[in-house]
Amino acid sequence: MPDRHPVTRYSDLSIALHWLMLGLIALTYAFTELRVLFERGTPERDFMRQAHFSCGLTVLGLALVRLVARWFGGTPAIHPPLPAWQRRAARLSHALLYAFMIGMPLLALAMMGLRGDEVIFFGIELPPLLAEDKDLGKQLRGWHGDIGRAVYALIALHAAAAIYHHRIRGDDTLRHMLPGRP
Ligand code: HEM
Repeated sequence: MPDRHPVTRYSDLSIALHWLMLGLIALTYAFTELRVLFERGTPERDFMRQAHFSCGLTVLGLALVRLVARWFGGTPAIHPPLPAWQRRAARLSHALLYAFMIGMPLLALAMMGLRGDEVIFFGIELPPLLAEDKDLGKQLRGWHGDIGRAVYALIALHAAAAIYHHRIRGDDTLRHMLPGRP
């Protein structure tokens, strides 16, 4: 994404969305990973399932708002400047994170429609995205799980990079994303 304005930090909206979405993504994972604590068909298990859907779909909506906020708010340059390969790696990892935040819930919506499963978003039933096709739905279910697990590594890498910049390289990358620090 192009840097449209030379800015010294992310916008307040981008910072708020970054930390809010970190919490939401953690909840989305927690609701699905911990669902196995409850028997299938119990109200608790259903609650975990619906909460997973609702948090995951909220991630999609907020990711779109965040893209717009980033477009208008700009992205700050890092000081001291990064070597070219690190700039490219950072751009790639950010693009992958956005692709995940938008693509994963869309994949899930497609999967649910294909499987003929209903999607309840905070109590509201959403219309199916695609017509039923159980085999394809099963395949997408596999992808949903595989991508979800692979993204643990991407998130860990993102967090490790932030710590490396702050603690080892001593640049201003992490400070750009902290609230109340001009
Ligand atoms: C950021 C968004 C999301 C992430 C990170 C995510 C991640 C995951 C992960 C890691 C699993 C466990 C896979 C396994 O145990 O094999 C899972 C399962 C599942 N996810 Fe998602 N998911 C997201 C959004 C959604 C959305 C929006 C829906 C539905 C609209 C959905 C529907 C499901 C379903 C149906 C399962 C299988 C478990 C069950 O039947 O309750 N996911 N998801």
